[in-house]
Amino acid sequence: VDLAGTESVRLDLSSGTAARRSIDRLAPDLVVHTAGLTNVEACEAAPEQAQRANVGISLNVAEACAAAGVRIVHISTDHLFSGDRPLVDEAAWPDPVNVYGRTKAEAEARVLDAHPAALVVRTNIFGWGPAYRRSFSDVILEALRQREPITLFEDVFYTPILMETLAKAVHDLVAAGAQGILHVSGDERLSKHDFGRRLSQQFGLDPRWIRRGRIVDDRRLVRRPREMGLSNVKARELLGRPLGGMDAQLARLQEQEREGLPAELRSL
Ligand SMILES: NC(=O)c1ccc[n+]([C@@H]2O[C@H](COP(=O)([O-])OP(=O)(O)OC[C@H]3O[C@@H](n4cnc5c(N)ncnc54)[C@H](OP(=O)(O)O)[C@@H]3O)[C@@H](O)[C@H]2O)c1
Repeated sequence: VDLAGTESVRLDLSSGTAARRSIDRLAPDLVVHTAGLTNVEACEAAPEQAQRANVGISLNVAEACAAAGVRIVHISTDHLFSGDRPLVDEAAWPDPVNVYGRTKAEAEARVLDAHPAALVVRTNIFGWGPAYRRSFSDVILEALRQREPITLFEDVFYTPILMETLAKAVHDLVAAGAQGILHVSGDERLSKHDFGRRLSQQFGLDPRWIRRGRIVDDRRLVRRPREMGLSNVKARELLGRPLGGMDAQLARLQEQEREGLPAELRSL
């Protein structure tokens, strides 16, 4: 099953030759490369697999696109810094604290080496997900609707952006000829706990199911940055518009549910 207006094709990107064959066969106008091993615990447990998925495949795709003269957007992360400063801009030097961050940081550099006109987008997303991959907002809404307690960190900060807003911004940035590294995140920095509270308010759900947690108290987790907020000033200047505060983005998330997007995604 495909999303309306899209067609899925399975691609082999595991080698440079396979990726070149795939890109040549499809002859796309634009490649937006999102694949990777994104589970932080899984990356730490299997660093070679993380290296292959996050660096190797990204490089294969970037080289194939460069050889075919195809534009590429490489989706990166906000997980690249140790988290000692809020709202870092594009000039900040990555200093990742775990395997996921290190492989994503290396991927950025390798992609830009292979394809200097690439657009590398650092971000952190929320929005409706398919049944096989629940997003952060899906997990929170499910817990609140089922009246189950959920613990959210009050000491982890980020600048989340709705997937649809990100997709539109990326297309507009490509149309404007943007290249290099750009932070394409939401306009508002907040904690994961506050994100949950704002979500509950927007959807009229009881916030008492949300418990306060602190990542510093959770010793089971792989080390993570506590501050992941990105400054999106450069992207806003290029786009000539803000990217979105939480109220507007959460209202749009709710509107998407009324329009049937979660149901469509769950059928995938
Ligand atoms: N979610 C976020 O908030 C967030 C935040 C910052 C950055 N990002 C970045 O955004 C991108 C997408 O994230 P996501 O949350 O959508 O990730 P996701 O749900 O984990 O999806 C990653 C996709 O990559 C595919 N993949 C993994 N290993 C592969 C391999 N060796 N070869 C081919 N495909 C492979 C996976 O395929 P299977 O399903 O078959 O395993 C999956 O479809 C990633 O680059 C991530 O680093 C995400």
